[in-house]
Amino acid sequence: MKLEGICKNFEEVNVLHDCNLTVADKEITCILGPSGCGKSTLLNIMAGIIKPDEGSVKEDKKKVGYVFQEDRLLPWKTVYENIRIVNKKTSDSNIRNLIDIVGLKHFENKYPAQLSGGMRQRCSIARAFNFESELLLMDEPFKSLDYDLRINMVKSLIDIWHKWNNSIVFVTHEIDEAILLGNKIVILTKNPCTVETIININTPQHLRNLEDRELVGIRTKIIKVLSKDKKVNTYKSA
Ligand SMILES: Nc1ncnc2c1ncn2[C@@H]1O[C@H](COP(=O)(O)OP(=O)(O)OP(=O)(O)O)[C@@H](O)[C@H]1O
Ligand SMILES: [Mg+2]
Repeated sequence: MKLEGICKNFEEVNVLHDCNLTVADKEITCILGPSGCGKSTLLNIMAGIIKPDEGSVKEDKKKVGYVFQEDRLLPWKTVYENIRIVNKKTSDSNIRNLIDIVGLKHFENKYPAQLSGGMRQRCSIARAFNFESELLLMDEPFKSLDYDLRINMVKSLIDIWHKWNNSIVFVTHEIDEAILLGNKIVILTKNPCTVETIININTPQHLRNLEDRELVGIRTKIIKVLSKDKKVNTYKSA
């Protein structure tokens, strides 16, 4: 997918300005950026849910999955049914395996109202995995999860991505998630939102360790770009 010169205004406000971005085939593209800068808006444009005011989206993917920032489960369906509904051809054992992967074993017959926010989010992730899209858009999918769950979900996502060989666009505020997952990390600015920096990571995901010198260097670079401040690791004002 190729986004060229994307601009989007909401009323008088210019939210996205001249955004250019290529989502490479079979890669994970992570998007980082300040709160409210326009990340979800950009994903909605990629999904075709909203139209840009200017620019073009060149798309070659037919089947697009979307894990929204808020879970969008059907309240009258159970966990099992919510996952099954997007791909009724999936076997019972495959659905149970996905439920296991997202840590919802023993909750398959519960309704969304009986789950915590993080559990609902994990149910939406399992549903997206079951959809088996060519392009999967994920908007802060792990935001309500504790550290252990996040790390497990990152590993599961890498495993599933290896199996499918699909493309993923993953929006997050967690720098370490982006470093562990991304082939490419796209950093956005705010007011207006545009692509500030793109960082490529060549080390295969399953060989990455956050303590590796290369990845430590990438984290420092990301913090500098996000804070627009050369003094990293300090809260002192300039
Ligand atoms: N439908 C809409 N109508 C008017 N303004 C909107 C609409 N959708 C988004 N906005 C505005 O566009 C800007 C970007 O919103 P968006 O949800 O894309 O940000 P975000 O980067 O995803 O934020 P967050 O990190 O909090 O999820 C915000 O200022 C928001 O108020
Ligand atoms: Mg958002």
